[in-house]
Amino acid sequence: MSPWEANPAVLAEDRLLASFFGPWPLIGVLGSAVSKTRPVAGRCLRRGSMNKMSRSAARRRLSRRSMLSGLGVAAASVATAGVARAACSVTAYQIDGPFFPYTTGEQDWDMTHIAGGADRAAGEVIEVVGKIQDANCRPVGDCVLEIWQANVHGRYDHPKDGNPAPLDPNFQGYARIVTDKDGSYRFRTIRPAPYAAIGDWYRPAHIHFKVHPPLNPGVTTQMYFTGDPLLESDLLLKPLSEEERAGLIVAFDAETADGIKQGTFNLQVPEGWMPPPELMDIIRQQQG
Ligand SMILES: [Fe+2]
Repeated sequence: MSPWEANPAVLAEDRLLASFFGPWPLIGVLGSAVSKTRPVAGRCLRRGSMNKMSRSAARRRLSRRSMLSGLGVAAASVATAGVARAACSVTAYQIDGPFFPYTTGEQDWDMTHIAGGADRAAGEVIEVVGKIQDANCRPVGDCVLEIWQANVHGRYDHPKDGNPAPLDPNFQGYARIVTDKDGSYRFRTIRPAPYAAIGDWYRPAHIHFKVHPPLNPGVTTQMYFTGDPLLESDLLLKPLSEEERAGLIVAFDAETADGIKQGTFNLQVPEGWMPPPELMDIIRQQQG
């Protein structure tokens, strides 16, 4: 049985009515809120301090093109390979969904194991690596990265998830890591299963990402897997351009030294505010 058939008759309407995505026309708009931006270098030094200028820049990015695309005017087929991306165009926005974790548990880079647990999480272990960059392909270091996902059964460890599929006591489900100075990151997890959303809509397997760069606007998005047949019909991917979709779909065609399948997912954050060097020094000192 393929992974996307793992949860056949999982409740459609119950799970959704819960709080999925609100008014339908908004889905496309939210799913395509992205545009290219002027390159401005930035570094991520502290979480949660997006400035006013950044917020207003983020609002402006909901461009006319994105709105039209979101309303279905420019819907196109999902391409999973062979699409050339412009250098470091900003990663496409994807909504949080209803299952952003409340967790206070373990949050380290290895989501396949919980301290003190006897076993590893069920499912195929994978490793995701990548870099956070700005719109000019320059590294953005010291960013906080939040990652959350369903388990191998398509179930989130979240009180709003009505999926009757089992929880996995050995699966962490959420990680909060800090990128290196050059913006690089790495974590291990398991390949999640697809799950039922609304009606006959099944979400393809995906991992949620939220990047927190205080001196740039952040990026919230989802990473998908090359070859998943559900990519074609996914309502969150349809409004995106081919280039935007290509930036979210990852091939796990590399392998680590210990035999784990590895994929590379680079994320590009929008332009931000670059303080003068003397202010950067003060900020760094405050960071310790
Ligand atoms: Fe999700």
